[in-house]
Amino acid sequence: MNNNKTSIFPFESRFINIYGSKIHYIDENNNGENSQTTFVCIHGNPTSSFLWRNIIPYLKTKGRVIALDLIGFGKSDKPDIDYSIATHSKYVNGFINVLKLQNIIFVLHDWGLVFGISYARENADKIKGLVFMEGILKPMRWNELAYEPVRTVFKFFRTPLLGKLMNVNLNMFVKIVLLKLGSNRKLSQEEKNYYSKPFLKMKSRIPVYLFPTFLPLNGKPKDLYNLTDENHKWLQNTKFPKLIFWVTPGILIKPETVKEIKVKYNRLTDIYLGNATHYIQEDYPIEIGKGIINWYKSNYEIDV
Ligand code: BEZ
Repeated sequence: MNNNKTSIFPFESRFINIYGSKIHYIDENNNGENSQTTFVCIHGNPTSSFLWRNIIPYLKTKGRVIALDLIGFGKSDKPDIDYSIATHSKYVNGFINVLKLQNIIFVLHDWGLVFGISYARENADKIKGLVFMEGILKPMRWNELAYEPVRTVFKFFRTPLLGKLMNVNLNMFVKIVLLKLGSNRKLSQEEKNYYSKPFLKMKSRIPVYLFPTFLPLNGKPKDLYNLTDENHKWLQNTKFPKLIFWVTPGILIKPETVKEIKVKYNRLTDIYLGNATHYIQEDYPIEIGKGIINWYKSNYEIDV
């Protein structure tokens, strides 16, 4: 019996080998059969499966729940790879395929949207629904990102030497964006330690530094612009139920975007949570958990 559960993260840790590296994940409510519903939770920068700890108990009441740590994040391995978006996607896709997951409802945050939606686009027969929040849904203009002075800080993060100094040498993304500005609630020291632990060594912060340099802003970088544009267009033609949680001011999804997708996406439910910045699972776990369960009941448990 694996006894690595803790009171702050009361789930059994599992590891699976993907392309020669260990990916850490939790797999709750797995009864060994093909589940009618498998929630697959994908985090973003610079978090891990830990982000979902207070939401998983709700999801468990409706199906199997998987939450993985991206390669280079959480308790997953940190191999010497390029940590491009394509490479992250390769590991996420490999993980889902090796575990043979089906009937997937993705629960996505931040860069998790890019990996989950891209996977869904290529494997639509395995997808049952999509829940997303504060993430990279479509290409953005600079004036759609965050607010000042955070916008200016992201410009610095994307400036090659300066960004590296700020996020590799000084660990600013973890210390400031995640642990100071990221939630309204003051995280406990234990929570801060858990989030900080994967990034104690400078080298381990390279994937954290790289993510903001890939944000598709004002058409750059071009490959990310194209990928997120295709994801956004594809979502407009999907028929499965979708749920967005949104906040103000938010960093990655503004009220204007919610307004746009309410017109363009079919079967979309939106839930406004209130004031928050980005790591909204820390501020609104009960509302997110209950919101997903109510959405699930009304979309999958009644005859339509
Ligand atoms: C990023 O890694 O690109 C990112 C993370 C949190 C908020 C905004 C951007």
